[in-house]
Amino acid sequence: MIREVLRMGDPRLWQVSVPVTDFRSKDLNILLEDMRETMAQLNGAGLAAPQIGVGLRVVIFGVKSNPRYPGIEDVPDTVLINPRIEPLSEELEEDWEGCLSVPGLRGWVPRFRKIRYQGYEERGQRFQRVVEGFHARVVQHECDHLDGILYPMRMRDFTRFGFNEALFPGQELPPED
Ligand code: NI
Repeated sequence: MIREVLRMGDPRLWQVSVPVTDFRSKDLNILLEDMRETMAQLNGAGLAAPQIGVGLRVVIFGVKSNPRYPGIEDVPDTVLINPRIEPLSEELEEDWEGCLSVPGLRGWVPRFRKIRYQGYEERGQRFQRVVEGFHARVVQHECDHLDGILYPMRMRDFTRFGFNEALFPGQELPPED
């Protein structure tokens, strides 16, 4: 079922979500199905459970690269539950981000360039990946949602925060997450 995505200002987006304990529950299946449908309908790059009002540590993401958006690399379709992120260097990289909970705006956000992330896929199998660049950015953005953090809270330069049409007139922009 397609769910409503909460927008910034809704207090549920500031909550710290709790870990999943039962990977065999039907509720988890339904949640993931709803998240996939909702993300697909909005052409999103990622979605976190709290964005649809569910306070569990579950995120999904996945992006197909597109020649219209240089710098956006393929990110495999991923379900990530109870994630842990470890930066692999202190190095930060800044780039534009958008968020389905902050629709129509973009901001210039610093993120760790290279990370290792680990967690569980939907059947409860543990996995980990070492990633960098855009993939690392998407994961950090999604996992922030689980701690009640939206990207504007990470920004340092608010002259680089604004409406899509004002920042990038006439341009097609990569998906929000
Ligand atoms: Ni977001």
